[in-house]
Amino acid sequence: MRFVAADASDLAGVRQLAADAEAVDILVSNASVMTFSPTIGQDLASYDATFAVNVRAPFLLTALLAEKMAAAGGGSIVNVSTTAAGFGMPGMAVHGGTKAALESLTRTWAAEFTESNVRVNAAAPGPVRTGEGGRGEGMARGFGHRWHGPGHRTQAHLHPGRGGPRDRRSCQGPGQLHDRRDRGRRRWPHRNLRRDRTMDRLAGKHALITGGTSGIGLETAREFLAEGATVAITGRSQEKLDEAARQLDGPLLTIASDAGDVPGQAALAARLREEWPKLDILMSNAADVTHLPIEAWTEEAFDRLLATNLKAPFFLIRDLLPLFSQQSSVILVGSVSAYIGHENATVYGAAKAGLLSYTRGLTHELKDRGIRVNGLSPGPTITNAFAPLGPERQAALYEELRQTVPLHRLGTATELAKAAVYLASDESAYTAGTVLRVDGGIGQLAY
Ligand SMILES: NC(=O)c1ccc[n+]([C@@H]2O[C@H](COP(=O)([O-])OP(=O)(O)OC[C@H]3O[C@@H](n4cnc5c(N)ncnc54)[C@H](OP(=O)(O)O)[C@@H]3O)[C@@H](O)[C@H]2O)c1
Repeated sequence: MRFVAADASDLAGVRQLAADAEAVDILVSNASVMTFSPTIGQDLASYDATFAVNVRAPFLLTALLAEKMAAAGGGSIVNVSTTAAGFGMPGMAVHGGTKAALESLTRTWAAEFTESNVRVNAAAPGPVRTGEGGRGEGMARGFGHRWHGPGHRTQAHLHPGRGGPRDRRSCQGPGQLHDRRDRGRRRWPHRNLRRDRTMDRLAGKHALITGGTSGIGLETAREFLAEGATVAITGRSQEKLDEAARQLDGPLLTIASDAGDVPGQAALAARLREEWPKLDILMSNAADVTHLPIEAWTEEAFDRLLATNLKAPFFLIRDLLPLFSQQSSVILVGSVSAYIGHENATVYGAAKAGLLSYTRGLTHELKDRGIRVNGLSPGPTITNAFAPLGPERQAALYEELRQTVPLHRLGTATELAKAAVYLASDESAYTAGTVLRVDGGIGQLAY
């Protein structure tokens, strides 16, 4: 690690910083001036000083370093914004305004740099208690370096309390119980990866994933198990559930349950209450993905889609309330179709928009019970969801999507599963009521 003294308000200093950087793969524009001051009575000096650090410096650094990243084959830029950029807060006109500009730059850069494989995203923290060193220090430590600042000598501060024993007791119940490790067949899917602390992020946690026999749900079950969780998956047929169980290693429960059957959600919750002492993670993932032109919709098909994608998930959460632990995470799987209009997706998109709006309402309702609710919004992702189209139409659609998605590819179920691990784990303990978009930029960027 190198430490470089540089004043972000000094143009020459910023230029020198960029010139001195030999190789940069990641740029975090975090330096920031935070001003709390009512607009009336303010002079431009404070505005200019804030703008210089919060917008001009990131602009110049990005202009200079994105070129180096592009020449080296790609990179990642993270701009640190604030929730004040999205909400009106008295006294935050300058701070919020400059950060809103930074977010706008983020979207434009993301669109401009996709061809050179430089990804640009913003992180928007809410109020964070930052001591000496602040968020910048935290990020430097998070990137895996030993931090040499005072009071932080080792990485032990990074992941306190991890690595507790796995809880297998809860898998002793009757029914479709699968624990291949307990049967002595150790076949970890990630055996080639170093099993360090970052692979025990869900140790001791119990997770229910609806629609876990294929695609994103199946891969999430795999990741959750690898991270030490005890997992239950649902699907409509026991046959497919058994097939999924054959592909997974670890303490697994399979429960046949139709996600569109509203009274059936109470039965699913009751079954889990019999099997497990608590629930820490619910991922509502099963969905009816029917896409039809308006003339082809029947009332019955419309109601079935809404029951599966909107109504039943609500009642499942309600029926699971007595089982949720005091540190629970609910993940609602939405879709980019909630944000953008496209062919035949009107009903599906409306249901997903409704589902994602639960994240905000339920966060308010459930926060005092220790339940966080967030959305996960996939863009086009290679899964069985497209199989009904048949091989030819599927290939044509994939090609069309490659052209449309700013990153020029479809996502993988594993990429969504990794994002789900973040939302499920205590690493996201300060993340609530938001939607994490893992969509190759298609939900944000206009082309
Ligand atoms: N793939 C994409 O491009 C994409 C894009 C945006 C959003 N999404 C969202 O991502 C989620 C997962 O989709 P995927 O792409 O992984 O699809 P997938 O591979 O087809 O998997 C769907 C899963 O849901 C289950 N399921 C479907 N209807 C169900 C029902 N009524 N009751 C219980 N389980 C049901 C299926 O199990 P059984 O067939 O065994 O019942 C299967 O396990 C969905 O919410 C979808 O809307 C996907």
